[in-house]
Amino acid sequence: MRIVRYHAFGPAEVLRVEKAEVPRPGPGDVLVRVEAVGVDQADVQRRRGEHPVSLPVLPACPSADVVGYVEEVGPGLPAARVGERVVVWKARNAYADYVTAPLHRTVPVPAGLSAGQGTVVGSTGRVALQVVDTGRLRAGESVLVHGAAGAVGHMALQIAKARGAHPVIATAGSPQKRDFARSLGADIAVDYGETDWPGQIREALGGRGVDVILDGVGGDLLHSDVRLLEPYGRLVFYGASGSPTARPTLSFLDVLGMKYVTGFSMATLLEHRPDLAESGTRRLLEAVGSGSVRPVVAAEVPLADAAHAHDLVEARTSCGRVVLVP
Ligand SMILES: NC(=O)c1ccc[n+]([C@@H]2O[C@H](COP(=O)([O-])OP(=O)(O)OC[C@H]3O[C@@H](n4cnc5c(N)ncnc54)[C@H](OP(=O)(O)O)[C@@H]3O)[C@@H](O)[C@H]2O)c1
Repeated sequence: MRIVRYHAFGPAEVLRVEKAEVPRPGPGDVLVRVEAVGVDQADVQRRRGEHPVSLPVLPACPSADVVGYVEEVGPGLPAARVGERVVVWKARNAYADYVTAPLHRTVPVPAGLSAGQGTVVGSTGRVALQVVDTGRLRAGESVLVHGAAGAVGHMALQIAKARGAHPVIATAGSPQKRDFARSLGADIAVDYGETDWPGQIREALGGRGVDVILDGVGGDLLHSDVRLLEPYGRLVFYGASGSPTARPTLSFLDVLGMKYVTGFSMATLLEHRPDLAESGTRRLLEAVGSGSVRPVVAAEVPLADAAHAHDLVEARTSCGRVVLVP
């Protein structure tokens, strides 16, 4: 089978298509024939050697959300699972024709979704739902979603909308992305490349601040976010796609006006509150199944062209999720 690996950190060209044995499923594992693989901002940062939290041991193949068919089951699993179409969240060695994963890391693909859309139901959609939960967003509250046309962002926007947030405010870096955010339900869409973007939002809110801010972009936005929060407002910081190596700091003076600032990490949630992770997955599947939340595929790129898929993510022109197809 083919597998895409990199042997050194660097630009997208370090991604190489190599040959490997089809992996064998161990006890409790399934072997999945891959239909689509989601490409994350975190994969791109790791490939560049710039991820804010962790870098892989080289040579590396990204872990990613995968959709495919169960081709074989490992010892201890019923043969009846063969043929099921599943989403695997964060499969290891995922840029490949086949992956193995523990059965408990799979869920059925919701009816009516393409393989590419199904990948969004993996960790990406779960992160989106959990950051909305972490912000304790209530119906009628205003919410600001930064980078709202991104893979996580476009799901968080829709989940917030479905939960009755109002107004839903999106930021994005191009007119096309802001139109996309509006098409998904954003009431207000702002260019956060403009220096007075917080002022534009305050003006649209009649002078008020924002109740909940979801920030996966980070860097300098953090300070503007805290200033823009309404008293008792909540900021959830969950990623640094804008500046992975920046380490912005806050003083207690920034949060004195009853501003709540927290981070979100899927790894921490899974370790400490697997119950919340599980209920989140159930609610995400319901929301996608009912059609209130619609995953969007920005582009399908052949697996052998993984470097191009990374280029697309880095070019910041995509609306929704970029996927690889074997
Ligand atoms: N905490 C967790 O457990 C967890 C789990 C998964 C992902 N994440 C984080 O979630 C964030 C979003 O991931 P994603 O896969 O949704 O990424 P994505 O699809 O690439 O979206 C990220 C968005 O960030 C914006 N952005 C601003 N500056 C950028 C820059 N210099 N380079 C690239 N994008 C930039 C882009 O929007 P504009 O072009 O409109 O500015 C882009 O649409 C990432 O920071 C990722 O690490 C966190």
